[in-house]
Amino acid sequence: MYRIAVFASGNGSNAQRIIEYFDHHPQIKVEIILSNNPAAYVLERAKKLGIPSFVFNRHEFYESDIIPDFLAARNINYIVLAGFLWLVPVNILRSYDHRIINIHPALLPKYGGKGMYGMKVHEAAISAGDPESGITIHFVNEKYDNGAIIFQAKCEISKGDTPNRLAEKIHQLEYRYFPEIIEQVLTSKA
Ligand code: GAR
Repeated sequence: MYRIAVFASGNGSNAQRIIEYFDHHPQIKVEIILSNNPAAYVLERAKKLGIPSFVFNRHEFYESDIIPDFLAARNINYIVLAGFLWLVPVNILRSYDHRIINIHPALLPKYGGKGMYGMKVHEAAISAGDPESGITIHFVNEKYDNGAIIFQAKCEISKGDTPNRLAEKIHQLEYRYFPEIIEQVLTSKA
């Protein structure tokens, strides 16, 4: 059984989609939601969906082994970042080499890096006048949005699209592809 921990910092609509997709899956299970943000709506979603959650602070994340120990104790073998905004520290990267998957709401290498998340990404793509944007699913390394790309999908930026409208289009792509790509990555290693 592949046991996933999903890390999320905010709303958590992708986290919910992933939990629902793998509900009753024969090989893959979302075991827990972790968040750096005690006010994140993803924690409400986890409660409603009956998935346990754990909140950690900056000190615990960057200056202790609490998180890798916590994950090891639950036999977590993959980590999925779904709207998680902190850089993953080296102690977790070492334990989960090529087993941490992130989604970014742009066609990397465009509009990635520190401070580039959520609506800021969509604002940047629109103000650059880009004709298209999309999603990138990639492995996580020690730099923001820099690890090996697993999958990308595109959508058009139409005249008059606002950052909110583009965010909706991107979310639709995320819901459509992210769970499936996670499934492919995990089961191809079976
Ligand atoms: C998603 O669009 C995700 O790609 C993005 O945050 C949103 C979270 O939405 N992630 C990043 O910007 C990471 N750099 P959600 O909380 O509703 O899933």
